[in-house]
Amino acid sequence: MAIVSSGSGRTPKRRETVLVDPQPSTEEASVRPEDSLRPKRLEDYIGQHELKQVLGIAVQAALGRGDALDHVLLYGPPGLGKTTMALVLAEELGVHCRITSAPALERPRDIVGLLVNLQPRDLLFIDEIHRLSRVAEELLYPAMEDRRLDLTVGKGSTARTRSIDLPPFTLVGATTRAGSLSSPLRDRFGLIQRLEFYGQQDLELIVARTAALLSIGLSPEACSGIAASCRGTPRIANRLLRRVRDVATVRGGADSIDASMVAEALSLHRVDHRGLDASDRRLLTLLLEQHGGGPVGLDTLAAALGEDPVTLETVVEPFLLQQGLLVRTPRGRMVTDAARAHLEEAA
Ligand SMILES: Nc1ncnc2c1ncn2[C@@H]1O[C@H](COP(=O)(O)OP(=O)(O)OP(=O)(O)O)[C@@H](O)[C@H]1O
Ligand SMILES: [Mg+2]
Repeated sequence: MAIVSSGSGRTPKRRETVLVDPQPSTEEASVRPEDSLRPKRLEDYIGQHELKQVLGIAVQAALGRGDALDHVLLYGPPGLGKTTMALVLAEELGVHCRITSAPALERPRDIVGLLVNLQPRDLLFIDEIHRLSRVAEELLYPAMEDRRLDLTVGKGSTARTRSIDLPPFTLVGATTRAGSLSSPLRDRFGLIQRLEFYGQQDLELIVARTAALLSIGLSPEACSGIAASCRGTPRIANRLLRRVRDVATVRGGADSIDASMVAEALSLHRVDHRGLDASDRRLLTLLLEQHGGGPVGLDTLAAALGEDPVTLETVVEPFLLQQGLLVRTPRGRMVTDAARAHLEEAA
């Protein structure tokens, strides 16, 4: 996958991924190890059956009509495959994917520059779309709806509005916080899709796929051990696999990793058999031991844990809620009996 910074010399070659963040961070400017593990086509994208079905039909229909795919909003917890899906969509459509993220679009000219450089049917991926500035959002409304860019030229009494027609394009927005999107923006997406945590079977397929790509020999028990301990999240599965490989390398068994090496790596990184990590357990223990199980408000919890409330809500809590270890009530968060049992067992 070619990642090229924006600016001059754009070649109209299809299926090229172009990084257009005007101020790419060093992490984004280089190809991250994560990128090499991303499935490229819909058929290689494991799990998320409903998402694949819905988007597969939309892609086929768009290709059949020779039109751009309708705008897509992908939301869900981190590491479940939103960015991967945006890249897969571009590949399936045979178009460029221009990648940016909302915090890089602070000035009007950032988003204007992006939009006027789009080729017909290009895919524009905006990560963290809930963080768009108001001005960027207002420029996007007519662009998404009428393929038109409304620009104000000049200042004061001589200011005029000029409209520029845009080619058909697809905006793919990704967010971990769908609730923070303004409703006018949300309403302009034709497809709004939530990504779910992955089940054990799909995670085993993901771990096996990554192991094959990294030439790691893994026993079936080791594979299922990693799958069971990754909080339903492919990114964590891939990360754990690397940590297990570290242990195996040191123990001299990197060619055939077994369940005991998985257990050693999990215990080293304080991940329990249910996949909960130290922050998960800290949250549940705090609720249980200092607040009698709750309810406790998010801000109080965040302050006591020294975490940012947004991180707590979007990164830590979703898996605990999905596992039935935590519940949200109008008066705050509460632990469940299942969480009590799990903590007693882990103690
Ligand atoms: N369905 C899948 N099949 C195989 N691997 C996957 C799948 N989804 C995600 N992955 C792997 O997990 C990693 C993380 O996925 P991705 O970066 O797309 O997540 P994300 O939802 O964009 O996360 P964030 O919210 O943090 O941006 C990728 O490198 C990819 O290898
Ligand atoms: Mg992403």
